Amino acid sequence: MNPQGFVDTVRHNFIVGNWKMHTTAAEATQLAKAIANGMGVMSGKDRVSVAVCPPFPYLALVGEILKGSCVALGAQNLYPEKEGAFTGEVSPTMLRDLGCIYVILGHSERRHKLGESDAFINQKVRVALTAGLDVILCVGETSDQRKANQTEAVLDRQLVQGLVDVPAEVLTRVTIAYEPVWAIGASGHEATPQQVQDAHSLIRRRFARMYGEKSAQAVVIQYGGSVKPENAASMLTANGVDGALIGGASLHADQFLAIVRAGIVEAQTKGKSA
Ligand code: PGA
Repeated sequence: MNPQGFVDTVRHNFIVGNWKMHTTAAEATQLAKAIANGMGVMSGKDRVSVAVCPPFPYLALVGEILKGSCVALGAQNLYPEKEGAFTGEVSPTMLRDLGCIYVILGHSERRHKLGESDAFINQKVRVALTAGLDVILCVGETSDQRKANQTEAVLDRQLVQGLVDVPAEVLTRVTIAYEPVWAIGASGHEATPQQVQDAHSLIRRRFARMYGEKSAQAVVIQYGGSVKPENAASMLTANGVDGALIGGASLHADQFLAIVRAGIVEAQTKGKSA
């Protein structure tokens, strides 16, 4: 048993780069090549899963570069319809067509800057899974919510409502990313490993109530929020943390690869493999 009361289970480390609305085509090409090449020569790479999520316009370009590498392609969003009159939107079928394996859903920037509701995010989660995309569902409280002691209530709500009608059988295709809004980006405050560990434990406990202990032990929960080479080891070794969702540092191949390396070291220590 670990201090959170869960039997320690060996889950794999999943490291994902979220490029957000950054890069030009030339920069995306360079970044993808550097990451694919760096991963190619990295020892122990089979111990972690790695993916990058470029902006929509560069998915095809980056997908081509990643072909044959051990880096998977993911998207940052989708619209929850197969096709139709939805000007400007991108369907899960299109993402699959471009070789995407993953899609990030419920990112706090979409929740807070674009007003996405839990119900809308849930619709996306269900449609993505049905279309064959694996989901990275982001959850996390704002600074005000944390100060008001609402962290647990917010995480519970985002999980319960985000996973409505998602059956236990498909949970192996769902990753949760805990991303406290106050820790994200250049102006974010770094979370302590203890805060991260506590939140991951809340999430896993909620999962146990929703899907049972076994599913809760198996679910991969990433941490995201100012993860960089300097703090990667302490974040990734925090109890219950299974990899990272990385924004800023994922735009620099050397930094991203350094975080992957920290994930490999942690995996080796704990006997994990992808
Ligand atoms: P950050 O972003 O690493 O720049 O804090 C993380 C995220 O928003 O996924």
